Amino acid sequence: MKLAVVGKGGAGKTTTSSVIARTLARAGLPVVALDCDSNPNLGISLGVGDEETERLISMRQALDEGQEEHAPSWDTLINRYGSEGPDGIKLAVVSRIDNPEPG
Ligand SMILES: Nc1ncnc2c1ncn2[C@@H]1O[C@H](COP(=O)(O)OP(=O)(O)O)[C@@H](O)[C@H]1O
Ligand SMILES: [Mg+2]
Repeated sequence: MKLAVVGKGGAGKTTTSSVIARTLARAGLPVVALDCDSNPNLGISLGVGDEETERLISMRQALDEGQEEHAPSWDTLINRYGSEGPDGIKLAVVSRIDNPEPG
């Protein structure tokens, strides 16, 4: 199951995403949370902590500035740029790929 939460700033995206993620994780489902917001504070809302959230954000900045390579696969993305938070949730602050190769 893939869920995307979108909306205006202040609409409650981060709060809603966190509640959904924590609820599913506590029900025993494996949860990967991807924060692609320009104001990426999902880590704080999920309970990952300020310091770890900042670390994840700085990795996205490095990607956007071309100092890091985009992960070639899903597993690599989570292992290289992800973090494990409360209830076993994996979190990554992600960027977008402007010119993805086919596949
Ligand atoms: N269901 C809700 N009821 C009341 N306040 C809420 C609710 N969801 C979020 N908020 C509050 O609204 C503000 C914005 O929520 P946030 O999740 O950060 O929005 P977004 O991520 O869309 O910018 C926060 O102060 C949050 O605590
Ligand atoms: Mg938000």
